[in-house]
Amino acid sequence: MTTDRSEPSYDAVPYTSHAYQQTHPDQLATIARVFGLPSPDPLTARVLEIGCGRGGNIIPMAAACPSAHFLGFDLSRVQVDEAHQTARRLGVDNLEIRHADIADVDESWGEFDYVIAHGVWSWVPRATQDQLLRICRERLENRGQTIDHRFGSADHERVAELSSS
Ligand SMILES: C[S@@+](CC[C@H](N)C(=O)[O-])C[C@H]1O[C@@H](n2cnc3c(N)ncnc32)[C@H](O)[C@@H]1O
Repeated sequence: MTTDRSEPSYDAVPYTSHAYQQTHPDQLATIARVFGLPSPDPLTARVLEIGCGRGGNIIPMAAACPSAHFLGFDLSRVQVDEAHQTARRLGVDNLEIRHADIADVDESWGEFDYVIAHGVWSWVPRATQDQLLRICRERLENRGQTIDHRFGSADHERVAELSSS
């Protein structure tokens, strides 16, 4: 099922690909601990990155945490193919990259300790935002949720849906 029409444009013009230190599970765990939230060990965590693009964020994290398991996915086939090539070239094998839509993520994907979505929320339609929140609700192990997200200032009420559901 495809809920978004961004695939052709990101295939034609792939997005920039960078590491974002604020999404690293190590940093998320530290912040979670400060606020008394569950903070699974980042070194062995299961991490999901939504809209991982060409892998500029998830590949270095996987390389730095070889005992953790990383799963990233993106709707853009071109970007996913490039991520596969980069991971293979670097020999990063604790990482899986899937070509998938946010709406595709279900229980067969398993559960995760950390869910990351950087630069996705503000770029997708509301129906896809709803799916993104659903993933966070359903796929975070034991509601040990630690989520890093780039929300716009107007989105805070919608994010509050997470804690009330
Ligand atoms: C603005 S880019 C951000 C890429 C990367 N996360 C970053 O911050 O650099 C948005 C990404 O979300 C992906 N995307 C958009 N809609 C999607 C969907 N429905 N399912 C999966 N990925 C999607 C796009 O293909 C694109 O790679």
